Amino acid sequence: MQNQFEGKELKKVGIGIIGLGTVGEGVWGILNRKKEELLLRSGIEIEIIKVCDINRKKKNSLKIPSQIFTDLWEEVVEDKRIGIIVELIGGLHPAKEIILSAIKKDKYIVTANKALLSEYGNEIWSEGRIFFEASVMSGVPVLKSIKEGLIANRIEKILGIINGTANYILTKMEEGKTYETALKEAQRKGFAEADPALDVEGTDSAHKLSVLSYLSFGSWVSPKDILVEGITSLTPEDLRYAKELGYTIKLLAIGKRDKNSIELRVHPTLLPLSHPLSNVKEEFNALLIKGDEVGEITFGGKGAGSYPTASAIVSDIIESAKSFVKREKFSRSISASPYSLKVVSPSELVLPYYLRFNALDEPGVLSSISGILGKKGISIEQVSQKGRKKKGAVPIVMMTHEAKEKSIKEAIKEIDKLPFIKKKTLLLRVENF
Ligand code: HSE
Repeated sequence: MQNQFEGKELKKVGIGIIGLGTVGEGVWGILNRKKEELLLRSGIEIEIIKVCDINRKKKNSLKIPSQIFTDLWEEVVEDKRIGIIVELIGGLHPAKEIILSAIKKDKYIVTANKALLSEYGNEIWSEGRIFFEASVMSGVPVLKSIKEGLIANRIEKILGIINGTANYILTKMEEGKTYETALKEAQRKGFAEADPALDVEGTDSAHKLSVLSYLSFGSWVSPKDILVEGITSLTPEDLRYAKELGYTIKLLAIGKRDKNSIELRVHPTLLPLSHPLSNVKEEFNALLIKGDEVGEITFGGKGAGSYPTASAIVSDIIESAKSFVKREKFSRSISASPYSLKVVSPSELVLPYYLRFNALDEPGVLSSISGILGKKGISIEQVSQKGRKKKGAVPIVMMTHEAKEKSIKEAIKEIDKLPFIKKKTLLLRVENF
């Protein structure tokens, strides 16, 4: 190794890691196992000065030397030998306090905290000393690609499967497993958030979409302004019905840019089986980006788990260390934001829809439903009743042609009041290409 660096200046940068959960353990593991390789590749020696977790047992389980272990994050942020703080505790607090106090002390930050970035993006990003590749699609370097590789493009569309847990559950439901069994499996495998409601209700995807929107469209949008629906109302039957119609169902994060407006939404979506994202299974993530120069390109890989996420964190540690040694105030993690784009309201959407009614098996039911839809200007593409029952309700599945979301919602409200409708109607949006 000596020879490799003959005549070159070797730099040493001190870091502090806060949080030793699934991701923190992976980072600790890679930095120790690959210390020499990282030094050879980057010319920078990363020295772990302090490691912090509120669970003191981690010190023994990860064989961390006592002199570098602490359970107080303040000790890490105060340490003058540390140039880079790696925040891996997740959640909003005290992660926000850690990051803001580290910024005040002129330290650089590496984080995977998509919730924090999406909630407080405006406040935190303006500092430009924050690196967050791991926050979206973990190990797949999609953010660096958008910032650097695609810099010549005006991005027109992003379409992503960006939550591994939800994709894992949908894949397993397609194979016939129940939602509950699939969720337990995803939790056991370490993909799910500490609170899995964030995964299955679409919030985690919305956090990531807000980060993607900032980099792709130059516009920070609060997650409150993103249309978000999760996968909890879906049944394995919906996946089966969709397949019969030539579609699969994926929890998609969608961003589309028109001249002066953007559409940002997360919801379970029917995708044609031939679509490039339809074959993305289990915890795998994929993102399709359409740039005006490059056309459509797709990124894919593991978007959750200890080592895939740690892979991106370590990459950011090295990149931030390079900025740190040069004391660059504005790192390449920042994106200029010259645009002011209006977010399209969900009621203005115009899409094809999948509707699943639950209705008594009686004469006249279909004509009443289609009558209401027709009155609202909604045209039906196909319809099928699933099974027969003398007494009791059966599912009726319908695909519409493109229709206004406002009209569809009004029609469903009316339909759900009909006496033969026994459950709330399920509405899913369809993405054609
Ligand atoms: N819970 C997230 C997922 C982890 O399932 O994708 C990675 O952000």
